[in-house]
Amino acid sequence: MTDLPVYPLTDEHKMLRDAARDFAEKEIAPIAAEFDESGEFPRETVKKMGDLGFMGIEVPEEYGGAGMDTLAYVLALEEICKADAAHGVIMSVNNSLYCHGILKFGTEEQKKKFITPIASGKAIGAYSLTEPQSGSDAGTMKSRATRDGEFYILNGRKSWVTSGPVADYFVVFMMTDPEKKQKGVTAFLVEGNTPGLTRGKKEPKLGIRASATSELIFEECKIPAANRLGEEGEGFKIAMTVLDAGRIGIATQALGIAEAAYEAARQYAGQREAFGQPIGAFQGTGFKLADMKTRIEASRLLIYNAALAKEKSKQTGGRYSLEASMAKLFASETSMFVTHQAVQIHGGMGYSRELPIERYFRDAKITEIYEGTSEIQRLVISRLELGLK
Ligand code: CAA
Repeated sequence: MTDLPVYPLTDEHKMLRDAARDFAEKEIAPIAAEFDESGEFPRETVKKMGDLGFMGIEVPEEYGGAGMDTLAYVLALEEICKADAAHGVIMSVNNSLYCHGILKFGTEEQKKKFITPIASGKAIGAYSLTEPQSGSDAGTMKSRATRDGEFYILNGRKSWVTSGPVADYFVVFMMTDPEKKQKGVTAFLVEGNTPGLTRGKKEPKLGIRASATSELIFEECKIPAANRLGEEGEGFKIAMTVLDAGRIGIATQALGIAEAAYEAARQYAGQREAFGQPIGAFQGTGFKLADMKTRIEASRLLIYNAALAKEKSKQTGGRYSLEASMAKLFASETSMFVTHQAVQIHGGMGYSRELPIERYFRDAKITEIYEGTSEIQRLVISRLELGLK
């Protein structure tokens, strides 16, 4: 097998990637099927990921993080996702949807208080934008935050919150001025134990079953005004900026799943015989493998490119929405394609729960949906290309 990619990684990148690979193979892969079956949140391994510095890779050391770059984040996340996509999304949300936004838009006090426990892996962070009637059209949210002296009172119902049942801290988006639509959205930092905040039922899911997803219900939930992230009305831009970072994480999750499925299919095709020869020797299978491998490597290059674009934006302040959306679109559709082919190559064994192939297939689907569906990524890309936004 060729050792791709031919991409300039520093020694530090390689060390982190190898540490993540080692941990994922030894500690996550052996428990992935069991936690997928039970749907239990994998607290112990998530805690260990924190100890290894994986829960705040780009966060400066002064706030409890590993102080590395976006490429480092992507390399480590890819390894975790190869072993288990559920651990992967917990890590991705913590790093990009939670820490990144506070790092970029938070005050010094907010960074100290709300990032340090999360980046060091002592606590878990989550991001809450979606509502039951407001998904792709995120600007139509109904939840309300009302200023009351030195406090805000939060009311409403949020849905599909990754890590919702277990998170200690949340970045939450609510309307402060509904008449202004997107420009009336404001972001808040909410502690999980605040009175008036309850977690709704845990969603039963097709895949990434060990990651916990739920609704959040806010009823007269009173938080200090100092917990507002950014200014009133800046919330929609904050949400979108943060999603650009998040989409690189989900693209990486899709890549990890696809790589695991591909590697299993490649090995199986070399061993399993039919009609007197390994099935990989038939062009019907060999060409499938060729397409799988090519699309995986193309995904990887789009993801690394998006990671470098994000890194550059730390200096320039510019957007990298195009790079992030292209990476997510291509990698998630590749993941679905590759896992589908991997089931087919494995035949009956691909359908059996005795092998992880069917899990890869179930896990891949969500990457085409959350943090912006494939249709939304196409909308973002085409609008930017046509100069419409
Ligand atoms: N960065 C910075 N600003 C941005 C931006 C970005 N990526 N995208 C849009 N904006 C700005 C625009 O420039 C515009 O600003 P001005 O008014 O000053 O010009 C403003 O935001 C409004 O933008 P649009 O007019 O483009 O807004 P829209 O209503 O047409 O929506 C959209 C655009 C792309 C459809 C957006 O709503 C979107 O991305 N929807 C998908 C939401 C999503 O991904 N949800 C997933 C939630 S998280 C999750 O999945 C659960 C989890 O826990 C993992």
